[in-house]
Amino acid sequence: VGPDGSNPAWRDLRAQFPITATRAYLFAGGMAPLSSPARAAIEAYEALWASDPVAVYSEYAGEQAGSLRSEIASLIGAAPEDVAIVDSTSRGNNLAVQMLAAPPGSNVVVDSTTYPTALYPWLLRDGVEIRRVASVDGLPSVADVPNLVDDRTVAISVSHVCRLTGFRHHLEALAAIAHAVGAALVVDAAQSMGVVRLDVRETGVDFLSFGAMKWLLGTPGIAFFYVRPDLQEALPPPQVGGRAAVEDGKLRLPRGGTRHELSSLNWSGLGACREGLRLLGSVPSGSVESRVLDLSGVVIDGLLERGVQVWTPRERSLRAGIVAFECGAPDRLRGFLRRRGVDVWGWQRRRLMRVDPHVYNDEQDVARFFEAYDAFRRSELPDD
Ligand SMILES: Cc1ncc(COP(=O)(O)O)c(C=O)c1O
Repeated sequence: VGPDGSNPAWRDLRAQFPITATRAYLFAGGMAPLSSPARAAIEAYEALWASDPVAVYSEYAGEQAGSLRSEIASLIGAAPEDVAIVDSTSRGNNLAVQMLAAPPGSNVVVDSTTYPTALYPWLLRDGVEIRRVASVDGLPSVADVPNLVDDRTVAISVSHVCRLTGFRHHLEALAAIAHAVGAALVVDAAQSMGVVRLDVRETGVDFLSFGAMKWLLGTPGIAFFYVRPDLQEALPPPQVGGRAAVEDGKLRLPRGGTRHELSSLNWSGLGACREGLRLLGSVPSGSVESRVLDLSGVVIDGLLERGVQVWTPRERSLRAGIVAFECGAPDRLRGFLRRRGVDVWGWQRRRLMRVDPHVYNDEQDVARFFEAYDAFRRSELPDD
């Protein structure tokens, strides 16, 4: 599968997403559109639920969750028992913070654009100092991280890819810095997983959280939480579910990640999430990343040609699918584009706009975005 969007494999993948027939949907970093196979999986679940709830309860849910756990584990290079299915990335971020021992006087290093749910849970911990990595030209100054850690650092906590800049961290380097002082590397991969390869063993990530609804082409209400196996066994979970047991007066926790799965899950989305993974796996390994980087590169080049301030680095290893750029009127631009069949996102307060191409997009979608963007810029020109 080459980078060329006319390649049949990309056309077949695109055809699985009905929205592509009418709109240029460029908002994968918010929510992926529903694909036909994922929809069929949801409908199959609904049919079974209506006709035979006992089968859902006794077989379907357990089988689907087991398969999904295994598929996610193989995606991140972990064992299936090391992965918990949870309800959101934010849940995983909170669990990681709650599991780590952080006595008063300890500190945590976060980059200044980390996702709120990787930062706020630390603020519930008394006496833990938050050390922020400064931003230079909108991007975290990663070279400063070694100067921020010391022997009282309990964690470095980052979004692998930042939702506001599209910047991608080099996780191996951060893991080496964290581990040198005995700290953990906590990673929120909500904006990278599905596009960028992330192997937990190779990178040395200790805690990893990511949801299914964005780049993994799955549904809301399903996310994944990985903890390095030795930490999993050493650190008490913040909450206990019904799969634990009391034996000889002692609490026995389920082994591995399932200890974090308290009870029933979002069963209706399990099959749909598996279809998302199947779609991503329907093209050769590595080609999703190169295709998305090609498309996001076309977006960056088009913006730079127009003299726009682009926050996302041009260098391929420093980005994934998100392209963020400055815009004086994000709400007006978003509405203008939406009326022309182009879906993107923006934040008024931050004067920021985002375009997030994924595998179901093609060069025509990007061209449609630029056509509408140029029309917007012309419409905003002051009258003579
Ligand atoms: C980096 C990052 N983490 C987490 C989230 C939220 O994920 P969830 O709704 O699964 O908690 C987002 C959503 O934009 C995000 O960008």
